[in-house]
Amino acid sequence: MSNIVILGAQWGDEGKGKVIDIFSAKSDYVVRYQGGNNAGHTVVVGKDSFVLHLIPSGILHKGTICVIGNGVVIDPKALLEEIAMLEKRGVSVDGRLFVSEEAHVIFPYHRTLDELKEQKKKKIGTTKRGIGPCYADKVARSGIRIIDLLEADTLREKLQSNLDEKNAVLTKIYGVENFSFDGLYGEYLEYGKKIKKYVCNTKRLLNDAISKRKRVLFEGAQGTLLDVDYGTYPFVTSSNSTAGGASTGTGVGPTKIDKVVGVVKAYTTRVGEGPFPTEFGPDLMERIRQKGKEFGATTGRPRRCGWFDAVVVGHSIMVNGIDEIVVTKLDVLDDLDSIKICTGYRYNGKVYNDFPSSIKALTACEPIYEELPGWQSDTTKITSYEKLPRNAKNYLKRVQALLHTKIVLISVGSERSQTFSKGA
Ligand code: IMP
Repeated sequence: MSNIVILGAQWGDEGKGKVIDIFSAKSDYVVRYQGGNNAGHTVVVGKDSFVLHLIPSGILHKGTICVIGNGVVIDPKALLEEIAMLEKRGVSVDGRLFVSEEAHVIFPYHRTLDELKEQKKKKIGTTKRGIGPCYADKVARSGIRIIDLLEADTLREKLQSNLDEKNAVLTKIYGVENFSFDGLYGEYLEYGKKIKKYVCNTKRLLNDAISKRKRVLFEGAQGTLLDVDYGTYPFVTSSNSTAGGASTGTGVGPTKIDKVVGVVKAYTTRVGEGPFPTEFGPDLMERIRQKGKEFGATTGRPRRCGWFDAVVVGHSIMVNGIDEIVVTKLDVLDDLDSIKICTGYRYNGKVYNDFPSSIKALTACEPIYEELPGWQSDTTKITSYEKLPRNAKNYLKRVQALLHTKIVLISVGSERSQTFSKGA
């Protein structure tokens, strides 16, 4: 099995950064296929901690080639800052980082529109990075792509036409200041010059690599329940974070993908607005948030926390075709005397095991729980599945049985070494 998709099977923040870093050691290429700098993938290497927003987490492995695929939306300023941060910390990206010509570019008016929309009463709780407005332009066929930054006349024409429209919206609908063409044009031409050395036809690069039997890892960002089609719409991000996005966001056909690995936290979290059936009450919320350091890696916002939801993950397994599961942050549950798992939802007197499409139903449904005894001992120093306390093994076995999918790896801390396989 050589070409693997690794993605989040909940609402993001499942600990994908660490899992991708571990799998990267056995990959030749790591490619991001969707999202943008709304993501925050944390990788801990010894005493160093890296938070990556755009560049694939594989960059921390010297021999790995990293690709930002066409499905990603790129804020060039953020990209250049991330490159500078890595170089400053001794991680060289030259010759190892490739950016798709076809990826769409985030402009300041996208960020402003994102912020303005978030001021409404019915907000999504976005990261305000301009992600949604940029994808909206892409689908409306008015977006500006990385290749356009390298062609002065194309950029001039597209930016002028976009600004005419955006400035009218900004001034007439929102009553805020407009953007000057000259300022933006000069700034983005300059970004084009700086990133030119990384830009190429990444679909050719990846397909050639695959035909030479190189191993490609597809790095998902956000999570399945934030997918624009399969998530809790409209409380989602604006891309396909599910496995299908790995093909459309890179130009690698689905027949070339060998395996899909879903990353799940031993409990559930979400950031931003939207229904969350297994959300904890305030006391447990605070306890788990502190223990699990559940604060956004991108925005610093406190994450909402809740019990493990097998309906959510079952839905993810189906829409992604997940073959194997990695369970992260098991140690965060160490102190609890009992642990709940949601096995279904009750709504209008009926029991549902399928994730509802109706936000109204999801908001009103009552989770059905199974309660298991906790293990109340420290698992952070455990190095093999066999050495886990019996109740921790029982918890994992029950999760695996409910999901009908094999758990292959378990993580009990942020370090690379705090990971072990589940075995048979
Ligand atoms: P946007 O992607 O900034 O448009 O935000 C849309 C929704 O996705 C909001 O609920 C965000 O909190 C959530 N979101 C976006 N990126 C991430 C992520 O990397 N982890 C968790 N939630 C995210």
